[in-house]
Formats: sequence, structure tokens, C-alpha cells
Amino acid sequence: MSGIPHDHYEPKSGFEKWLHVRLPVVGLLYDTIMIPTPKNLNWMWIWGIILTFCLALQIITGVILVMHYTPHVDMAFASVEHIMRNVNGGYMIRYLHANGASLFFVAVYLHIFRGLYYGSYKAPREVTWIIGMLIFVLMMGTAFMGYVLPWGQMSFWGATVITGLFGAIPFVGEAIQTWLLGGPAVDNATLNRFLSLHYLLPFVIAALVMVHIWAFHTTGNNNPTGVEVRRTSKEEAERDTLPFWPYFVMKDLFALGLVMVIFFAIVGYMPNYLGHPDNYIEANPLKTPAHIVPEWYFLPFYAILRAFTADVWVVQLTSFITGGIVDAKFFGVIAMFGAIVVMALAPWLDTSSVRSGRYRPMFKWWFALLVVDFIVLMWVGAMPAEGIYPYISLIGSAYWFAYFLIILPLLGVIEKPLPQPATIEDDFNAHYGSAKSGATPVANPAE
Ligand code: HEM
Repeated sequence: MSGIPHDHYEPKSGFEKWLHVRLPVVGLLYDTIMIPTPKNLNWMWIWGIILTFCLALQIITGVILVMHYTPHVDMAFASVEHIMRNVNGGYMIRYLHANGASLFFVAVYLHIFRGLYYGSYKAPREVTWIIGMLIFVLMMGTAFMGYVLPWGQMSFWGATVITGLFGAIPFVGEAIQTWLLGGPAVDNATLNRFLSLHYLLPFVIAALVMVHIWAFHTTGNNNPTGVEVRRTSKEEAERDTLPFWPYFVMKDLFALGLVMVIFFAIVGYMPNYLGHPDNYIEANPLKTPAHIVPEWYFLPFYAILRAFTADVWVVQLTSFITGGIVDAKFFGVIAMFGAIVVMALAPWLDTSSVRSGRYRPMFKWWFALLVVDFIVLMWVGAMPAEGIYPYISLIGSAYWFAYFLIILPLLGVIEKPLPQPATIEDDFNAHYGSAKSGATPVANPAE
């Protein structure tokens, strides 16, 4: 399956041979777990496993929660309180699920920014990247619908605001909105379809994760140098890689253990820290909360959505050209989805011949600014849309688009990259010393 030459599974016992010609599932598992992995992977390569853990955690806790949850507007809120108070360990299951969603997004953002820095999206890993982006969009949809289920004030009003965005689409918007909600407003039909989809989508995500893994097992993993594993012979490939089991499994489990310490400290001691107190008030369609804020992981995109108000010249120009069809609200919706689309197009927008940001002196700074920009957008997304904040949102949004549409294409042309190591083995030995001669590995004095 992999392009990197390595030993494949050989059935030994009679039963193994019998099964192998009928269903080579053991061989598939063997090749997956023993996959040759670049031996210089650093700690930013742990997030994929953390994400897989999060998906499993969300599915297991979710399946238990749904056993006690009632999807009806008159009972949903009370059924969640029932889970918290009466179901054995129910509060724990719920807090694991709610905070598990946050951990999922922490991990996915680190995973995405890792990919953006080390150029993991570049050829031949475009398909891995695009599938990742699909997963990301589905994760957002799943989290959004899940947040509606406890039927608190933020559930209801968040759903009203976000589904209202579809109403901004010219001509067909209102029809689409009604179709999505199952009626003219967020109500019982909405709650039921959101539960149905919230239950379904994680399984779609799980299937996509398998394809994601299949894709990067076909190309091989990227690594901090961006230099490919040598494939000319098995011996050379073996000098650049180590089998995933046991080396990377142990490393990933260690990382997972550390992350779990922090995660369980939050779940145990401050489970509502990332939540909003208004969601402990039952939904009331007659009382709008003073300040509607989405969950933290949506804030950067929410900031982009709100950045484009009617007094911004691009919006006015677009509105003028389209004869008023694209108004400020619709422009905001396009910008919000566009922010994800430009990121998905990174493989084709980045013109550099060098993959890893490590050897790109100019790129490093613009990338660092993108990280700061993302954090600023997250902060400003939680602020009221008044005073200086809309200007900050606008500058932050402009930089996001400029990074992908202008800076990435230009840098490839004007930047002079630094020399890259010839092989992964060279990079590994420069960091950890050569263990080939049996000598004690020495640390790189430059580190
Ligand atoms: C449920 C969500 C996801 C899971 C479980 C997942 C899992 C993984 C795993 C296990 C790896 C192997 C390397 C590593 O551990 O970092 C990986 C690599 C990769 N992922 Fe994801 N991923 C997810 C979402 C995403 C998203 C949203 C993107 C962004 C578009 C993405 C882009 C990539 C890329 C480009 C690689 C290749 C990097 C390499 O080969 O080293 N993934 N993913």
C-alpha cells in the first residue's frame, strides 16, 4: 500500500494462510501499524493521534448521553439536567463530551498549523489536505449542532443567528433557511434534525479519517525537513525511517498521557470554564441574550463573518457591482466560508519549491503573523461589534486572505530558501548523533 519499500506481512500459521487468501485483513493491519515513518518527526506530529482519540471519546460519550437525552423542546433542557444530577456518572460523561469538543478543536488547529508550517499540504499530499479540510468543516457542523441540543439560551440564539445566515443568500436564502430549520424558526423540528445529524456526522468523519490515513500512508508522512524518504532501495528507506510500531506508538501514547493530565484537570476542576453561563438558562424565544457569542473554536471565523459591515468599501463596491444582490450580510457569509476555502487551496497557492518552513527565512515571519492573526481574530470575535473592534476584525480578516492569496504565491518567487539536508538520515544524525557505529549519540552543539 505504501510507496516506501518495507517488509510486508507473511502469513505463518495454517489459519493465517487460510484467511490471507480470503480476506487479507491481518496483512492490512500489519502494514498499517508497521508503516515506515520518518524517524525525525517532532512533537507536532502527535496531534493526529490526539484527534483520533478525541473522535473515539466523542462517539463513546455521545452514545451514552443519547441514552438519557430527550430531543423535545419541552424536555431537552431538563433531560440534560437529569443526566447531570441523576444518571450515574452522568455529569462526568457530559463534561467529558463538552470539553472533549474543545480538545478536539485545540488538536485540529495545532494539526492544521503544523501542516501549514511544514508545507504538509504540498504535492503529493494535496488529497490528504483536502480530506482534512472536509473533516474540519464537518467537525464545525457537528459541534454547532451539538451545542443546540442542551436547549439553553446560547443554544437557541446561536442557532437562530447562524441559521439566519443562510437567509442572506439572495433569492433562495429564505427557502433554504426554512428547509434547514424544518419551519420558520428554530423549534422542535430543528432540535430533532440536529440530533439526528449530530449523531450521524461523527461516523462520516470516522470514514473520512480512514481515507485521510490511507492517503498519507500512500504518500508517506511529511516530516520537519520536508525532504522525502529515499525510495530507491529498502536499505536506504530504512535509514530514513522507523516502523510506526513500537517507536511512534510509544511516543504518541506518552504525548496522549500528558495531554490527558491537562484535559482531566479541566474536566475535573473547571468543567465550565470554556462554556457560557447563559446556557444554564433554558431557551426562551422571547428573550434575546444581551451578547450572543459562539463557542471559542468558532470565534476566528465569527470575527471574519462580522468584519464586513456596510461601511467597508469592498462591500460597498461589491454591492454596487451586483446591483445590491450581495449586501453586507451575504458578503460576511461569503468571507467566512471563503476563509476556509482559501486555506483548502493552499497546495495550489503556495508556489515555493521548498516544502518546510524551516528553510524559508521570509515565510517564517509571515507564518508567525498568521498565527498571531488567528489568535487576535479569536479574541476580537468574542468582543461586541462596536468601537475599535470591527476595525481589528477587518484588518485581521484582510491579513488572513492576503496570506493565502498574495503572500504565499509571491514568496515562492521572491524568497531565497536556505540549504536543506540531503536526507532525513542527515537531519536525524545532526540532531541526535549517528547511532550506526554504536557510539553514544551526541546532541547537536548548535541546538
Ligand atoms: C478528525 C480529524 C483528524 C484526524 C483524526 C487526523 C489524523 C491524522 C493523522 C493520524 C496523521 C498522521 C500524522 C500526525 O499524527 O500528525 C495526519 C496527518 C495529516 N493531516 Fe490529519 N487528521 C484530522 C484532521 C485534519 C485536518 C482538519 C487537516 C487539515 C486540512 C489535516 C491535514 C493533515 C495533513 C496534511 C497530514 C499529513 C502530514 C504528514 O504526513 O505528516 N488533518 N492526520
